[in-house]
Amino acid sequence: MEDKHVAPLKTVRWEDGKVIMIDQTKLPNQLVFVEYDDYNQVANAIQTLVVRGAPAIGVSGAFGLALAALQSRAKNKDEMIADLEVAKKTLFETRPTAVNLAWGLERIMNVAISCDSVEQIRQFVVEESKKIAEQDVSINRAMGKNGSVLFDDNDTVMTHCNAGALATVAYGTALGVIRATKESGKNVKVIATETRPVQQGSRLTVFELKHDGFDVSLIPDTAVGYAMANGLVDKVVVGADRIVKTGHVFNKIGTYQVATMARQHGVPFYVAAPLSTFDMKSEYNDVTIEMRSSAEVTQVGDTKTAPDDIDVINPAFDMTPPELISGIITEKGIAVPPFEDSIKKLFD
Ligand code: MRU
Repeated sequence: MEDKHVAPLKTVRWEDGKVIMIDQTKLPNQLVFVEYDDYNQVANAIQTLVVRGAPAIGVSGAFGLALAALQSRAKNKDEMIADLEVAKKTLFETRPTAVNLAWGLERIMNVAISCDSVEQIRQFVVEESKKIAEQDVSINRAMGKNGSVLFDDNDTVMTHCNAGALATVAYGTALGVIRATKESGKNVKVIATETRPVQQGSRLTVFELKHDGFDVSLIPDTAVGYAMANGLVDKVVVGADRIVKTGHVFNKIGTYQVATMARQHGVPFYVAAPLSTFDMKSEYNDVTIEMRSSAEVTQVGDTKTAPDDIDVINPAFDMTPPELISGIITEKGIAVPPFEDSIKKLFD
């Protein structure tokens, strides 16, 4: 590993006209960084989960468009915008559920459209994508601070999937709230679900929490009911890929089960997400749930765990309805039920 990669340890960043990412498919066994100078490589990285987590793919999409601007041989603004539109489509089509991707791409396109020349577009889109990455960290810290008031000393907090530093540029959303709770002087323990089939919980969440000195226990997804019924969990906090104006939350498959179980056992269930994860235009039934390959379910690594030719249903996300949610933590404050009103206020 080269020195330039050691500090700062960021999930995704821009350096010397290249995008540098941690290859999350290699974790927890190897900490490997990949470098890209072609937006098609970034699109492939998003599709294959080299980079994943809603805010991280939003930033990666923005960096991808910045690469496309550097790659373009356009001779005038119109040609450059046409090239960026092609790149935007390729990047956008990688993953359909997390709205941060579209948000990041749109923000870069708006900057490009406001520019006068090809050279100005190149300069401004690179600057804007770097700004999006920097703001991601400050937003997570603000969100963490806002959410930390909800947690008490000696709480054990359950989380699902990975909504940590690895799902963002750094610090994390749901794990950012847990980090801020600890930084505020409270003792906090974490229970992380394994998060089958891709195991973001066991491969990523417990990796980063253990690395950062947290008291963390890993459970199989099937032990969520056991943990709650036996009083092992005080609160739940998860991230989100998309939240619509009614407070319906789209997040990693299994979140709905965790929320339902939390309600059954009287455990508060919180969601932490930046405003860029809110989709104020779509209705909940307009949102596309990504369906992923059957191989994620029929094998673990290279070992087959199901018979050949079995039909598989492998949705990557599910929807948790607002009635199961105690609060939605954002950088602008905490939305509480009724969510339609409180979410609107966050944007006013
Ligand atoms: O398929 P993934 O790993 O991209 O799914 C990630 C999640 O569902 C996260 O919980 C969500 O993106 C929030 S990350 C801050």
